Amino acid sequence: MSILVTGGTGYIGSHTVVELINNKYKDIIIMDNLCNSSEGVIDKIEKITGVRCKFYNADIRDEKALDKIFSENKIEAVIHFAGLKAVGESVKKPLEYYDNNVGGTIKLLQAMKKHECKKIVFSSSATVYGDPGTPKYVEEMGRGIASSPYGETKAVIEGILESLYKAEPDWIISILRYFNPIGAHKSGLLGEDPKGIPNNLMPYIQKVAIGELKEVSVYGDDYDTKDGTGERDYIHVVDLANGHVKALEKLNKPGIYIHNLGTGNSYSVLEIIKAFERVNNVKVNYKIAPRRPGDLSKFYADPTKAKKELGWEATNRHRRYGER
Ligand code: NAD
Ligand code: UD1
Repeated sequence: MSILVTGGTGYIGSHTVVELINNKYKDIIIMDNLCNSSEGVIDKIEKITGVRCKFYNADIRDEKALDKIFSENKIEAVIHFAGLKAVGESVKKPLEYYDNNVGGTIKLLQAMKKHECKKIVFSSSATVYGDPGTPKYVEEMGRGIASSPYGETKAVIEGILESLYKAEPDWIISILRYFNPIGAHKSGLLGEDPKGIPNNLMPYIQKVAIGELKEVSVYGDDYDTKDGTGERDYIHVVDLANGHVKALEKLNKPGIYIHNLGTGNSYSVLEIIKAFERVNNVKVNYKIAPRRPGDLSKFYADPTKAKKELGWEATNRHRRYGER
């Protein structure tokens, strides 16, 4: 029996494939259209794990390709990462985002249903909470109004999965809401390397550190936070990847399950910059800039449910970010 990983050559998908293989799931099939990654990742995964994954260069919106993948393999479960994720771009190209993320997910679910594969783990985001008025996000709060078309695609997909489960209660559906994934595999072979100018803090810091960009703009220093800059729950990508392994292992009864994947701690923009400087022994130039529209001052996960139900917690949780 195989696990199909859509978007498996991407940042979180590739780290998850490595952790799946490390946890005895050797039969992994990756499907990715390579719009934000490259096929070389398959070689890198093999280098790290010794396992060569079967790879399909295919789009999740392509019904025929999905049919071929499900016909050629006995797929037991799908971990669904494939999607577009640039918040700013989604504001400019909403139709592309809904088509790819929502349309693609519907095609994938239809193919799964046709081939009687009814177990899926879906990449959602803390953005679906909207602005609940409190910084600690608990699953029971439900969804709010997401701040971008990207976020809205995640909320819509969660809704589709809920409707599907109501209509067909033999599905096993795991919705994982990620907080702010950062970091890379210790081999240095996998990581996050966004095309163009990054939106997210950590890749931006990295590009400043290597001299590709001049300075980090710190978006606001007048928030009601520990030092006035925004606070977020940054989670190491390998911890996040292991959350998927746990979801696959532990969720074996039909149901729809929602879990936060975060550490439960928040760090400020300045703390992150300082930690990066300290750990890498480099200087990161920055300037204080106006607040970024749509940003919240502070939020972090309540990770209790994931610990209780999945037996998962972030291993970096009790350490200061950057300490070994
Ligand atoms: P990524 O861009 O590195 O990976 C996504 C992969 O999906 C890429 O390899 C891309 O080529 C592929 N893809 C996109 N559209 C496709 C399609 N139609 N068909 C086939 N493949 C397609 O992004 P990531 O950071 O690894 O994110 C993975 C998932 O997690 C995404 O769904 C993203 O929205 C979600 N997520 C990411 C974050 C984050 O901060 N990185 C936070 C919350 C949720
Ligand atoms: C952003 C998205 C969110 C998405 C998440 C993960 C927005 C409004 N939200 O969240 O929908 O799920 O990424 O992909 O875009 N910062 C700077 N300077 C920078 C970049 C960021 O000061 O150059 C600050 C931000 O103001 C924030 C923190 O760093 O306080 C983290 O920002 P970012 O990495 O973009 O993540 P989020 O805003 O949490």
